[in-house]
Amino acid sequence: MRRLPPVLLEDGCSRELLSLIRTILAACKEISFRVGQGALSGVLGSTLDENIQGETQKKLDVLSNQLLKDILLETGYVKAIASEEEDYTVAGNPDAKFIVAFDPLDGSSNIDINSLVGTIFSIMEAPEGSDANDPSIFMQPGDKQVAAGYVLYGPSTMLALTVGKGTRIFTLDKTHGSFLLTHDFAQIPAKTNEFALNMSNQRHWQPAMQNYVADLLAGEDGPRKENFNMRWIAAMVGDVHRVLTRGGFFSYPADTKDPKKPYKLRLLYEANPMAMLIEQAGGIASTGTERIMSIQPDAIHQRVAVILGSKDEVETCLSYHN
Ligand code: F6P
Ligand code: MN
Repeated sequence: MRRLPPVLLEDGCSRELLSLIRTILAACKEISFRVGQGALSGVLGSTLDENIQGETQKKLDVLSNQLLKDILLETGYVKAIASEEEDYTVAGNPDAKFIVAFDPLDGSSNIDINSLVGTIFSIMEAPEGSDANDPSIFMQPGDKQVAAGYVLYGPSTMLALTVGKGTRIFTLDKTHGSFLLTHDFAQIPAKTNEFALNMSNQRHWQPAMQNYVADLLAGEDGPRKENFNMRWIAAMVGDVHRVLTRGGFFSYPADTKDPKKPYKLRLLYEANPMAMLIEQAGGIASTGTERIMSIQPDAIHQRVAVILGSKDEVETCLSYHN
């Protein structure tokens, strides 16, 4: 089986970008180890703190963030980082080329129940001559990502990665510490009968999503004339991994549950990297009204509606929005 470095060099990835990706993966290997140790390493449970988004931080959120932050700032490949667990961007090497946005531990409500969690990351280039302390260097649409990926800490630790030449999936060989290519050029089937949504929010959705899902639930007796199955892991990284490997429809749509928070998922370090992985595997990623990677961000913790997955099914959903 092929190791990650030669595969990425073949994809035209520069040695500089490869070094940065390997740096991120070094932290992810340690996170994988800690997650795997669970209660034995004393990392389960919550801290007494909240992040800037008002979410209670789990011990593993804080630990994962610290591991990624330390290694990224120490190795000098990044000009600045933006993290779900950091209130503001953090400056790195002023002469570095890249900036990294990341969700250190996605799906953290799954930590204490020994279920799926993962790390999501997005890499862009900082504008030429820009200031490492200026958060506006992150205000670039997802189309500017030079690489995006996630590491899923499941029964095996897997990496989905794209440098813009397709989406490749690797599995961590925990004996030797290498990510080995196990699923080349993932291709999401255009058609699917599986959807992933937090159905408890159904009554708070906008009419378009309500109507679309009502027709899915009506199954073969409804206008779709076929039955659909539902899955919800409650970790985007787990749900997107299923979509990448066997197809599917995933959405966290707008809702009116909390008028101050119409959307749940964050653009820079959740929606954009997942959108790139999905598009590079032949799928679609939209908000319902626009392509996710075309959005011009205006804040580092900005949230968006997300609808992604198998091409035909996402297009059907979008037709309810038009
Ligand atoms: O990071 C936000 C997140 O945990 C996603 O990973 C996941 O898809 C979603 O929130 C789960 O939301 P809920 O708790 O509403 O099921
Ligand atoms: Mn998350």
